[in-house]
Amino acid sequence: MENNSSISVSLTINNKDYRLELRPWVSLLDALRERVGLTGTKKGCDHGQCGACTVLCDGRRILSCLTLAVTKNGSSIITIEGVAEGFELHPLQKAFIEHDAFQCGYCTPGQICSAIGMLQEGKARTRGEVKELMSGNLCRCGANDGIIDAIMQVKEGSGYE
Ligand code: FES
Repeated sequence: MENNSSISVSLTINNKDYRLELRPWVSLLDALRERVGLTGTKKGCDHGQCGACTVLCDGRRILSCLTLAVTKNGSSIITIEGVAEGFELHPLQKAFIEHDAFQCGYCTPGQICSAIGMLQEGKARTRGEVKELMSGNLCRCGANDGIIDAIMQVKEGSGYE
């Protein structure tokens, strides 16, 4: 017999509170895109391999395609739609524009959310370490150098160690 039961999930998404009725197997990615209408977070592989779906959960970067939404009940989620301050772009958004760090743009929301989380982790000291810690976010257009340039500019200019 099919189990049609839904679970009530409370999430704060980009500083706004939501209460969603979700089946237990719904990914956070699908909840964000299909239930909340925040389509900035992209579905690439849907298998944890490309990083396009990266969002911040309680300040840490996670792959929303591999995360069941019900497991994040009570959490605060930031998506690409929530990283700017009003009309003021996040420093990484500005740096991506300055460094031409995208072509098709499909990976960009995940790259930026991942970079925010990576910089907050404070583990990367060198360009090589930044590259390594961003290696879960794939760009198939060849904008990788620009992406790392943009992240390095923010890392070195914004008080991130
Ligand atoms: Fe989640 Fe590719 S869509 S890692």
